[in-house]
This record gives sequence, C-alpha cells and structure tokens, in this order.
Amino acid sequence: MRNLLFIIYLGLLFSSCNTRPKYIEIQNAVNDTIIDDHSYANLNAIKTIHLELEMDVNFQNKTIYGVARHEMVNNNASVAIFDTRNLLIQKVTTGTKGHEQEADFVIGEMDKDSILGQPLKVTVDPKTTQVNIYYQTTKGSEALDWLDTLSTSSKTKPFLYTQGQAILTRTWIPLQDSPSNRFTYNAEVRVPKDLLALMSAENPKEKNDMGIYNFEMDQPIPSYLISLAVGDIAYHPFDANTGVYAEKELLNACKYEFVDLPKMMKAASYLYGEYQWKQYDLMVLPYSFPFGGMENPRLTFVNPTILAGDRSLVSVIAHELAHSWSGNLVTNNTWDDFWLNEGFTVYFEQRIMEVLYGKETADILAQVEFQEMQEEMKELLSGKHPEDTQLHLNLKNRNPDDGMTSIAYVKGAFFLKTLESKVGREKFDRFLKHYFKVFQFKTVSTAAFITEMENNLLFPEKVIFDYDEWIFHNGLPKNSVIINSPRLKRMESLAKRFSSGEKVFEPIVTYEWQKIKKSKKKKRIKKVSKIKREDFIVQEWQTFIRGLSDDISIEKLQYLDATFNFSTWGNSEVMAEWFVLNIHQKNRAVRPAIEKFISKVGRRKYLLPIYKALVSNPEDKVWAKKVFDNSKAYYHAVSRNSVAELFAN
Ligand code: BES
Ligand code: ZN
Repeated sequence: MRNLLFIIYLGLLFSSCNTRPKYIEIQNAVNDTIIDDHSYANLNAIKTIHLELEMDVNFQNKTIYGVARHEMVNNNASVAIFDTRNLLIQKVTTGTKGHEQEADFVIGEMDKDSILGQPLKVTVDPKTTQVNIYYQTTKGSEALDWLDTLSTSSKTKPFLYTQGQAILTRTWIPLQDSPSNRFTYNAEVRVPKDLLALMSAENPKEKNDMGIYNFEMDQPIPSYLISLAVGDIAYHPFDANTGVYAEKELLNACKYEFVDLPKMMKAASYLYGEYQWKQYDLMVLPYSFPFGGMENPRLTFVNPTILAGDRSLVSVIAHELAHSWSGNLVTNNTWDDFWLNEGFTVYFEQRIMEVLYGKETADILAQVEFQEMQEEMKELLSGKHPEDTQLHLNLKNRNPDDGMTSIAYVKGAFFLKTLESKVGREKFDRFLKHYFKVFQFKTVSTAAFITEMENNLLFPEKVIFDYDEWIFHNGLPKNSVIINSPRLKRMESLAKRFSSGEKVFEPIVTYEWQKIKKSKKKKRIKKVSKIKREDFIVQEWQTFIRGLSDDISIEKLQYLDATFNFSTWGNSEVMAEWFVLNIHQKNRAVRPAIEKFISKVGRRKYLLPIYKALVSNPEDKVWAKKVFDNSKAYYHAVSRNSVAELFAN
C-alpha cells in the first residue's frame, strides 16, 4: 500500500512538473528591475512562480479560510514581502507541505490613503523557496461580493464572486500583487454541497457531491486575473471550446445572446494568432457585478445587463475575448501602462466586430465610444489631473482605478487606428501578430512597446509617426483618425429637428396610385409611416439622446418616453443615457424607473453618471441618498466606494 501511494505521489509530482516547466524559463530569472508603485512586493529579491491555494468558502460567516502556498525563486533574499489588505494572517511557515517550520513575520503599517494595504514581511533565508500563509478574509475584503439568496436570479441560493483588477486580489489572497509578475496556480476549494465553484483555470462543468473542487492554471498569469465564482450555476456549451455558465434562470437568454461566440473566436484567432488558453467560457454573474465584463482567463465574468435580448451589446464579449491576447497573454507591466491592456483591446474588439457585423456597425460603435471619450477628455483637461489624458500614466500615490478612464480605452484604440492608417492594415496586422508572439506570457511596459514599434514597424516601413505626442502629451493629437458614420449623422439631425419642435415622430401620411387588377383604372391608397424604435439600433438611439438640446423641455422628454419607452426598454446603455438627461432636465416622472434600475444594476459605468447627476441637484440628492442607503449593502465595494465618494464631496 505504501509503495502504491509512493508511486501515485511520484506520478503526481511528475505530472505537475510536466505541465509547468514549459513556461518556467520566462519566469525563473529574477532579472529586470521591477518597480511597481502599487505593490510592496520585493520581486527583485524573491518572487512567486507558482501559487497553491487551499480555500474553505463559508457562506454563514461570509469568510474564506485559506492557505496560500508560494513556490518562489529566491535571489539571496532575507525577507519576502507580500501584499495584503484587510486580511487576518494567522500563521506563516516556510518549507513544503508537511515539512513546515513557523516563520517570523510582521505586518507593516497601512499606507496613509489606505490604497495599497499592508505589507506582510516574512523572514526567510537565501535558501527559502516555499512560503505558506495561513489566513482568513474579513468584511474589508473588497474583492469579495457575498450575495444573499434574494440578490440572485434563483432567489434560493447564495452567490460569491471575486473582482481582482486592479489591486484587490490582495484583499482575498496574500500575495505579490503586481501585474509585472506572472505565476501558475492551482487550488482546492471547498464550498457548500449544493453550489458549484469555478475559477480562472480549467473548470468543472457540473456540481459534485462533495463540494470540493480542484483547479489548475498551468499557464503563468498576473495576480489580478485570479478569480472565483461560487453559486448554483449551470453550463451551456456553444462548441468544443466555448460556452457559458450562468444561474439556470438566465441560461436560455445566454444561449440566444452569445450564440456568435464561436465566430468571434474564429475571427480573433485569424487576426492575431491562435487562442492560447484552451477553453473560453463566459460566466454571467448577478447584476451587482461592478463591470460590464472582466477578462479572467478561461472564464470571462459578464454582467447580465449584456443580456439585452437583441445581441446589441455583444461588443463587450468581443472586448473580453480580445483580452485573451492583449492583457492576459501580453500584460501591462504596471498600472501606469494600463493603456497597453485596454487600448489594444478596444482596437482588437472593433476589428472582431468588423469581421462579424461589417464596417458600418463597427464604425458606429467606435464613434459612440469616441463621443464619450471626447466628453471625458474635456472634463479631465479642466480638472485636477489634466495629465491623465496622456496614454502613459503616473499613478504613484493614487488609486490605480483613477487610470480607468476612456483615455486608456478609446484614445488608446484611436492611437492604434491612426497608426494603422499610416502604415496600412496589412503591415499593421503583421506587426500586431508579431507583438503578441514576442511578448506572449510576458509583461510589457510602454517603453518596451515603443522599442518594438520602432524596430519592427516604423523603421523597416520607413514611417515617421509622432507617437510621443499620443503617449506623453495631454489631449488628442490633431492627426487622429475621425469616424463619420452617416447613420449617426442622421440621428444627430433628427435630434436637432425634434429639439427645435419639428414633429419628426408623428405619422407621415402619403398617397400612392395603385393599378386595379384587370382594369385600366388606378386607385389612390393612403400610406401611414411612422418611425419605430426598431428602425434604429441601440447605438443610434444613444446618439439621438446625446444630440437632444440642453434645454429640451420636460414635455418633449415625456413625449419621447411615451412614444419609445426609453425608461423601460430594458437596454441598459440607452436607459442610463436617458436617465441622466432626464435628471438634468428635472423630469421627475422617471424617478420610479431610475430607482428600479439603480437598485438592481450594480455596474459602476451606469451608477456613477446617474448618481452624479442626482447629487448635483439638492432635492434629487436627498432622494438619491435614500436609494443609495437602501442599495449600498447590495453593491460590490468597487461601486459602493465610488458612489459614496460622490455624496462625500
Ligand atoms: N478589464 C476591464 C475591467 C477593469 C479595468 C476592472 C480596470 C478593474 C480595473 C474590462 O475588460 C473592461 O474594460 N470592461 C468594460 C467593458 C468594455 C467593453 C469597455 C466595462 O466593464 O465597462
Ligand atoms: Zn477591458
């Protein structure tokens, strides 16, 4: 028996060795000097190359009890520094499992703005390659969203999910929380028997009787991409490598909405090289999820607001899929380089949309985003940090979330579009494919990108391009490509005409002469035509709403709502846009619809502009505070904190 166990043990040892070393060469050397303003980790001296997690997920106490076992490369270190924030550290040991020795550790001071959290300093010696941290999460573990049964679609089972990006992974796992370091991980997760656990790793398709799940991510990833979801979850495959997980109440809607996923995958792989992560599944979370999507490898997290019922918001899926290359395969070195993740991804997203739905649609999407970016750019340029309009950021002593503006996303994408227009699509695509290959499973800084662009694109193609202006200067360079969609132009003019009192949405009566069968006579036929909501796509309506004049009357707004039902459409993009306009114009008739929306949807992109508009008016502010107080326990900390700031100012 002993022998048998030993053989199994050896087998396991080798099989786990077999899967990992493929990538180890990239990680092993502690080489480049790593400086990350948002991590305490001393990565130059010692860094994690593999993380083994043991986690007990307790819904009663809303606590995860965990052990984080770090396999590390040691470059003569006497201390190993980890990031933590609001974690309880029980014990730290060194040595492999079963051969552990307690180690001395101290928990440093919280930084003064409590952004980074507390460094955990463990005494090690130059031979230490294994550090094990025994810990538990707390109420302050902001990555975690524990949802009571009533806040889920099932209304009968609770739900837990995590959000790591940018620096929240340290609130549920003690680790070196810097995107500049990549490591592999595996995990054993215990959950209540009636729930399924999933991670950004190889995943089960269904529940087991034990409530114990084992995960393996054998490709090195940065810490912000570790994720976990636990709930009463079902699966629907689209093909052998793609599918969707959701609570079963939402699964049918998912089947319809995301049916093009395999096509998107084909398009993406064709554009920029083979998909590297084996499986690509979506996980549709509860409505409180603070983002539209989050690109956790092999398991993108999605907000259910994407289930619009008409596939009108699937560009979010194209976006998260694109991150499998830009972001997950090639990762921004620090949060100052965030545009390398998001700008490339928005560019790539638009290319996928173009392949699937044509250039006209892709242009409409891009132009709508461009409008948003211009608005935000104006605000940033007249605010406290106009330098936030540069692609390369300096976020030292600030929350990296401050970099999550449309500058990284849309200015970043338009930089690449402009570059593409200078060199031509074919050469540009060849360069991008090369870029993803050269940096795959690595991290990339803005400087490294520039070198690559100079050596492999600008110089060989003899192209002169002032990238400095884009990357290191405020505002939008004059040479930016501009999109002029005729369909959006028409919506703008429709909005102007409506604002100025033209009855553009009233029925138009026309008469036509029609031949009468078997006779030489003709009869006059009356035709009534009227613009319907279905005549335009969501993004056209967005442009219409944005194009309405600043002083539009409440009567006109109510007329529009009665005609097109914007307030109750169910399309979150239009609703959010519509609510903000109505708040500014003091059309209080929409209040019930607003309350319903912001009590259900926790996506920060919608909550912030709506609450911001409400807070700007004293009477609305009082009302908004009540709604917020009723909903804040339900919001994820990311959204809750951002909204709370609006009330504090
Ligand atoms: N990775 C981001 C989300 C993110 C960024 C979370 C920074 C935390 C910090 C994700 O890919 C994203 O960009 N989501 C967007 C949707 C996208 C279509 C623009 C969102 O949630 O709105
Ligand atoms: Zn993104």
